[in-house]
Amino acid sequence: IHARVEANFPDIPISWGYTSVAIRRKYKAQDKEINSLPTAISKSMDEEVTHLAVQPLHIIPGYEFEDVQRTVSAFRHMPKGFTEISLSPPLLFSQSSLHRVGNALLQILPSKRSSDEAVLFLGHGTNHPANSFYPALAYWLQQQDPMLFVGTVEYWPDQDTIRSQLLKSGANRVYLVPLLTVAGIHAQGDIAGKDPESWQSTLERDGFECVPVLKGLAEYDTFIDLWLDQL
Ligand code: CO
Repeated sequence: IHARVEANFPDIPISWGYTSVAIRRKYKAQDKEINSLPTAISKSMDEEVTHLAVQPLHIIPGYEFEDVQRTVSAFRHMPKGFTEISLSPPLLFSQSSLHRVGNALLQILPSKRSSDEAVLFLGHGTNHPANSFYPALAYWLQQQDPMLFVGTVEYWPDQDTIRSQLLKSGANRVYLVPLLTVAGIHAQGDIAGKDPESWQSTLERDGFECVPVLKGLAEYDTFIDLWLDQL
């Protein structure tokens, strides 16, 4: 992402803010310096940046995005602060973004897949109302191809919901594709993997052949294009 942003906006300084406390601790333990979002923003302020554009890498506008909104608005009120600070939305935030993300997902379908095989995109999921983007995306995708499904690892559509849809679909093979920015612990533990509760184990017990695709959306140029367009 850094390389693509740099190529698109040459000579513009780029900095990273890490919102996850767990990730910052992990880096600290390895003696690597990474900044929280407020630290990254205040450092740019100290460097006399006048205009700052913030691009979150979230997928839906849930609680984590709201935290970013609150942090960015706090900096709008700083004396001797930025002339302008803008915040782009996450990937899904409007009706038209649903179509854009849907089309991007159609472009990353596994190339070996035949049309009678299912593709299950798995997002994070949350009890925030923005969770409804997942079933909305599923509805949009199924208009294009009835063998495309969307579930979440933490909320709804959950395993039971998706299992019954898959059993009705007649598919034998299911590709498991993370609808996550990076394929980290949720992809490697909750989606794929030997844990008896993982999506892979559960679906295999139902008789499906599972093919996990352990790549985060940030590894596809198609998705970086979407973030870059917003930026
Ligand atoms: Co999580």
